[in-house]
Amino acid sequence: MNSRPAKFAGYCMSLWMAFGAVAAEAPQPVIHPQRWPELPPALPRDEALEAHVEELLARMSPEQKVGQLIQADIGSITPNDLRHYPLGSILNGGNSAPGDDKLTAPSEWLALADRFYEASIGGAGATVIPALWGTDAVHGHNNIPGATIFPHNIGLGAARDPELIRRIGEITALEVRVTGLDWAFSPTVAVARDARWGRTYESYSENPDVVRQYAVAMVTGLQGAPGTPQFLDAAHVLATPKHFLGDGGTGGKDQGDNLYTEKQLLELDSLGYQAAILAGAQTVMASYSSWRGQKMHGNHALLTDVLKGRFGFEGLVIGDWNGHAQLPGCSATRCAAALNAGIDMFMAPDGWRELLKNTLDQVNAGEIGAARLDDAVRRVLRVKLRAHLDTEGRPSSRPYAGRYELLGSAEHRAVARQAVRESLVLLKNANHLLPLSPAAHVLVAGDGADSIAKQSGGWTIDWQGTEPNQDFPHGESIYAGIARCVSAAGGTPNLSPAGEFSTRPDVAIVVFGESPYAEYAGDVHTLEYSPGDKRDLALLRRLHALDIPVVAVFLSGRPLWVNAELNAADSFVAAWLPGPEGGGVADVLFRAHDGTVQYDFRGTLPFSWPSSPRPPAVDELPGEEPLFGVGYGLTYADDGYLKRLPEVDVPPALPPAPARKRSRGRN
Ligand code: GLC
Repeated sequence: MNSRPAKFAGYCMSLWMAFGAVAAEAPQPVIHPQRWPELPPALPRDEALEAHVEELLARMSPEQKVGQLIQADIGSITPNDLRHYPLGSILNGGNSAPGDDKLTAPSEWLALADRFYEASIGGAGATVIPALWGTDAVHGHNNIPGATIFPHNIGLGAARDPELIRRIGEITALEVRVTGLDWAFSPTVAVARDARWGRTYESYSENPDVVRQYAVAMVTGLQGAPGTPQFLDAAHVLATPKHFLGDGGTGGKDQGDNLYTEKQLLELDSLGYQAAILAGAQTVMASYSSWRGQKMHGNHALLTDVLKGRFGFEGLVIGDWNGHAQLPGCSATRCAAALNAGIDMFMAPDGWRELLKNTLDQVNAGEIGAARLDDAVRRVLRVKLRAHLDTEGRPSSRPYAGRYELLGSAEHRAVARQAVRESLVLLKNANHLLPLSPAAHVLVAGDGADSIAKQSGGWTIDWQGTEPNQDFPHGESIYAGIARCVSAAGGTPNLSPAGEFSTRPDVAIVVFGESPYAEYAGDVHTLEYSPGDKRDLALLRRLHALDIPVVAVFLSGRPLWVNAELNAADSFVAAWLPGPEGGGVADVLFRAHDGTVQYDFRGTLPFSWPSSPRPPAVDELPGEEPLFGVGYGLTYADDGYLKRLPEVDVPPALPPAPARKRSRGRN
């Protein structure tokens, strides 16, 4: 290398080191724990259980203690491994399933749960208590083909029905139990404040009060109510409010940086956790995101001083998928910092072997204090004993195990269909076009018309949600639901995604919207719907130009800028991600055979709807006036007229540049 680049490299290095020194000295964002509320205990102290915890702890070797703090993914660990490595838990991530077959039978899940259970207490690496199995049951037991799958949280937020949420939690817990699992990584209690975030649809609302109400309902549904015989009984599972803290406030960037003030963090993002903890939540999942530059997985003030200190949380804090690896100086296989900050269990899908060894070394070297180690192990043991892991026996021997008729039962799916109906929000209804008569010639168009994957979104059978209709044995596409309703009334349904017809239809229902995504794959820079592809708009406009009444059914994981699409439709329904019970859409769009209204719209917006491609103002956070505010939603009685909306985006004028101070002598 000649000297010039070498000099430049040296110069860069010295700059970087100088920056590093400054950054290292930069004051970490300060949390004042005393400003956060102290919560009363959700559960009375159980002396017998605590004594049992201590008895188990006393029996554990350092390796067994460290092992309890590690959770591995079933794609990277076998039951035989668990015979030799005393891990405390396993999970199936979004793309993991027994035999690496996402379509495998529910019985294979139960059989594998048995094998892991027996291995965790039987082998050389036997632990003092069986391993837990956690799964992302975030809108039903959504990894299992045939299980009941509900609308995603954004649609449930539109329903404004906490009792429905509790019921959904109950059904989800029961169906998780049928397959032998005992832990749901749900509910997400993020308060999403910028819909460019790919996980907006996992949030119930931008309104923290709705999130708080729903947190109680879902945790109670999943776990049962504390102090009742149902609490963590055989029909319930552990819940996991997530992701602590502030994942919805990162300016629309997944795993981004939340720059709220401490007060905003408390008043906006923590209410769901406070409510969930008071409802008895036994686990909390840490967030990948940061607060003011500090990664949550390493934030001792929030994970320990606030969550465990002020909120009195005495369950376990689980890290996110290799979330610990994002801490400075850490990797997926070595991270004392996360444990010392307050993570009690590493979600270490694939690096679990090395992590076990390295963490044991760090304990022996004193990088992890004995008190912190024992506190974390106590928390894991306490949660397991509260969940009766010590007495409930092999998964397949438990009361609901193998009751496969419960998966997607008619009763459960009726609740999902009710949730679909209640989640729909009517934004426009010119000339009272809706509700429709079913005895009509109905064209159903759009690429969402007959796609259960598109109407279900991510976290459905697999992580990103891409399954063909046949993988949903009980599922019904929106078109199938319409066809059933219209045919029964003597009408004629016609499916044509491209909107083609030979006989002019009486009405066209165009089902279109976002393709499925999960997490960062769903992050967008603009709220304009489909900025690079206007085929859906062209379809709406073509049908509208033929004077065919057009009903738009918009499938999305968030509110988007759709002024042009609103103009091109006579009626416009925000359907969010309703899930496989597509018949719920027809229930609301069509009258009953006798002409009466079957179900009116009741959904209202859980998020502000944008009037431009830019995020709308939300409370005190900056932005533009929304087109429709939170709580907006028409019913059939309302005048659904909507004036023509601007279709060209005119960015707001930039604030005037501050007047330049004139330099002396030249004015
Ligand atoms: C993911 C998600 C989290 C999920 C976990 C396990 O990265 O952030 O919500 O529970 O990994 O799949």
